[in-house]
Formats: sequence, C-alpha cells, structure tokens
Amino acid sequence: MGKKILITGGGGFIGLALSNFLSEQGHDVTIFDNFSRVSRNKLIKKKDIKVVKGDIRDRNIVLNNTKNFDTIIHAAYINGTKFFYTKPELVLDVAIKGILNVIEACRKNKVKELILISSSEVYQLPKKIPTPEDVPLVIPDVMNPRYSYGGGKLISELLLMHSHIKTLKKFFIVRPHNVYGENMGREHVIPELIIKIKKKLKKNLQTNIKIQGKGSETRAFIYIGDFVKAFNILLKKGKTRNIYHIGSSQEITIKKIIDKISKIINKKVYFTKGSLKAGSVKRRCPDIKKIKKLGFKNFKFNNFGLRKTINWYLNN
Ligand SMILES: NC(=O)c1ccc[n+]([C@@H]2O[C@H](COP(=O)([O-])OP(=O)(O)OC[C@H]3O[C@@H](n4cnc5c(N)ncnc54)[C@H](O)[C@@H]3O)[C@@H](O)[C@H]2O)c1
Repeated sequence: MGKKILITGGGGFIGLALSNFLSEQGHDVTIFDNFSRVSRNKLIKKKDIKVVKGDIRDRNIVLNNTKNFDTIIHAAYINGTKFFYTKPELVLDVAIKGILNVIEACRKNKVKELILISSSEVYQLPKKIPTPEDVPLVIPDVMNPRYSYGGGKLISELLLMHSHIKTLKKFFIVRPHNVYGENMGREHVIPELIIKIKKKLKKNLQTNIKIQGKGSETRAFIYIGDFVKAFNILLKKGKTRNIYHIGSSQEITIKKIIDKISKIINKKVYFTKGSLKAGSVKRRCPDIKKIKKLGFKNFKFNNFGLRKTINWYLNN
C-alpha cells in the first residue's frame, strides 16, 4: 500500500522528480515549498500531487501542514554553489530552522518516518576516495562562507540523530553526490558548462569556454532518473539510524564531461583554465557499497541522461 508522504523542498529539482516518481509508484504525495527557486509547477505530472506553499522556517505553517503523514522527506534547502558564497546567513537560517521545525512537527504530529536529504558537502576534503559514509566530517574553515552549506547539513544530521523523536519508527540520512538532469537551475557544474557553450553557439562563435579549475578536477555524477530509483530502494529497505550515499561510482574529470558534451552536440569545445573558488574540492566520488548491497544497479555515468540534460538546456 502507498504511503502518505510530505516532501519539503518538493518544488525543487530533486524534490519534484521524487514527487512525480513516488506518486507514480502509488504513494500519496504532498509538496511543501516556498517556491523561491526556479518555477517548476508546470512539471508536476499527476493531478493528485498536493501542493502547500510555505516557508520551512515558519513554525506554525510547518506544524499545521504536517498532520497525518507516514513519511516526511526533508529536502528544503538553499542549494546552488553561488548562494553558499553570497548568502551564507540565509543558507544556515533555512538549514537550522528548517530541521528544527521538521523535528518538532514529527513529534507533535506523530509522523512515523523521517528521511533527511543531506549532502556530499559534509565531507569537504575527504581523506579517502571513494569516500565511505563513515569518514570523519569536517568544516575546514569557519571563515569561508562556502561551508555554510555543508555546515548546515552537518548540524541537521546531528539534530536528527540526537533529538530522540519517540514517535518515529524509522529515520535515516541520505547524502546525494552530484545529481544532475533537466531543469536543475543554472548554478551547478553541468548546466553551467552547457549554458556557456550555448551562448557561444548562439553567436556562432568558436566554442571556447572558461571553466573553474584545470579540467582535471573530478566528480561522480548521477542522473536524476537513476537517483529516484536509488531513493525508492532506500524508501523500501533503508534502515533506521543509518546514512546512505546515493551517487555514481564512476569518477569523471570535468575535461571528460566537456568531451562528452562535444560529442553529443557534434562540435569541438575548447576550454581555458580558470581559478577554483575558495574551498572548492578537487576530487569527489562516493563509496556506494551500501546502496549496491540493497540492490541499486544504475551506478555508471549515464550518457542518455547527459544527452537529455543537454537538449533541455539548449532548448529552454
Ligand atoms: N542537486 C544535487 O546534486 C544535490 C547534491 C547533494 C544534496 N542535495 C540536496 O538535495 C536537496 C534538493 O536539492 P535540489 O538540487 O533539488 O535543489 P533545489 O534548489 O532545486 O531545491 C530545493 C528546494 O527547497 C526550496 N526551499 C528553499 N528555501 C525554502 C524555504 N525557506 N522554505 C521552503 N522551501 C524552501 C526551494 O524553493 C527549492 O524548491 C537539498 O537539500 C540539497 O541540499 C542536492
């Protein structure tokens, strides 16, 4: 039988993909979002997905709209690397008030299950790559605004793990690693590259773009279509008080991504090296043994997903 699920940040890139997918799987889904980011309302696929417009920092709105749910998936957050640097106070405000309100809502409204969407940013400069879920988490420099994002996630994880919410039968943390796909906003690696290329193509100029870093930096990107499948496995099999990565195990350089984009658009893309932002990580790749053990199979770089993402950004 389907669950009654509330997804905070459900109007966002990941939240909306989850809402559509989980609704298709037969769950009764409600989106809670203040729609402060890209408007994706038109992308809500099923009429029976309900929408509550509200700010996760508003205690009363959160308490009043979290009654009679089996599960809360807490994904509301200020995302996008640009904002870590320009709006660190807001990032922390939404992070901390958000998780505190969600925890109180679970207690007062007797929610059975809470899933916190955290992030790979809790690792910053991990000592081990591929990085397993149990390596130490660090904030390398409290002066650097970038760590507002990872810091807010770290505090959220601590609050969830130590709040002793007796009504909850199950709670766990998901740390996504570099999810990409159509309509994810402009402030992420893959959309940034495609948008820069698009600008050159429009003016019929040689596709020479300036990138952040040398091109040798790596990430492990997972396509949103694969992310939701992995999440669904966790919804069914995830164990309480656990932490799970969702990501790809295929570490890939930014240069390789540019080559792949070149092939798909059938045009050579040249790039000039630029400086990395303070605190930017050179390598990132999750160890995904835990989710593989539960049955996740789509962990290689998804060329089909990249093609779909490129097409979306070129046409929108
Ligand atoms: N995209 C990734 O690769 C990635 C990686 C790791 C973790 N995450 C996490 O996954 C979650 C979803 O990320 P996303 O990529 O979909 O980002 P997103 O910005 O598209 O989605 C976040 C949503 O939260 C909403 N929101 C922001 N402030 C709010 C507030 N005060 N009240 C209510 N809603 C608010 C936004 O309107 C937005 O719809 C976030 O918690 C993010 O930190 C994402």
